[in-house]
Amino acid sequence: MTLIQKKIFVLSGAGISKESGIKTFRESDGLWENYKVEDVCTPQAFLKNPELVNKFYNDRKKQMNNPKIKPNNAHIFLSKLEKKFLNGFMLVTQNIDNLHEKAGSKKVYHMHGSLEKKFCMSCNYTSKFNKDISTEQICKKCNQKGKTRVDVVWFGEMPKYLDEIYNFLEKVDVFISVGTSNLVYPAAGFIDYVKLRNNKAKLIEFNLEKTPKSALFDRVYIGKASTTIPKFVNSFK
Ligand code: APR
Ligand code: ZN
Repeated sequence: MTLIQKKIFVLSGAGISKESGIKTFRESDGLWENYKVEDVCTPQAFLKNPELVNKFYNDRKKQMNNPKIKPNNAHIFLSKLEKKFLNGFMLVTQNIDNLHEKAGSKKVYHMHGSLEKKFCMSCNYTSKFNKDISTEQICKKCNQKGKTRVDVVWFGEMPKYLDEIYNFLEKVDVFISVGTSNLVYPAAGFIDYVKLRNNKAKLIEFNLEKTPKSALFDRVYIGKASTTIPKFVNSFK
């Protein structure tokens, strides 16, 4: 008799990395306090001032590579959950840091891209790249100079893996949202999609405070993810 595997979907946001020392976006001390989104997080910004955009992401890469920045228990216990539900588990993160991978998660869908990759805006050649990006860089594939950028999805661009995500959401048994303000679409709409298309799913939110989507969840655990996630994972069957 085959064990019917539960299908678990996890969506993480900047809040899961906050306790590891990485700033969120919209909290009082968040990234959008010091930068305007339109100056560093749009294709137009890159065309207008590539150096400023590269500096914004090079600084975040330096912070991510600082040995003091380590995964916290929320990342670690999500990697345990993945091991428990191997084929029936999908971890989608809005984050561009590598803390889920450092915590042992094997398959992480970075729907907003990753600081650890770069791509060429001329030929789309994509490669792992963990150093500073500059406008002096020449693309290995098409030899274009100054078209290489961090492989991060900017506002106005299409997030990654949406087909895989919506396919999985159709069949999910448990939908978990952790550390996201649920303000930025399409990620903020995943819960609505599940509610509409899949009424058997259990919907669980983990945040420091209520979000605009909290009313849609069956359970909302208020508290630090490094405390609430381990407790949940230890009791989850
Ligand atoms: N535990 C749980 N939740 C936390 C914690 C914590 N320790 N610390 C902060 N949070 C919550 C905050 O309450 C907030 O709701 O994390 C959330 C962070 O929200 P945002 O800063 O808006 O980050 P996020 O939801 O990931 O933003 C989504 O917006 O700017 C774009 O591309 C960027 O991926 C990002 C997207
Ligand atoms: Zn190229």
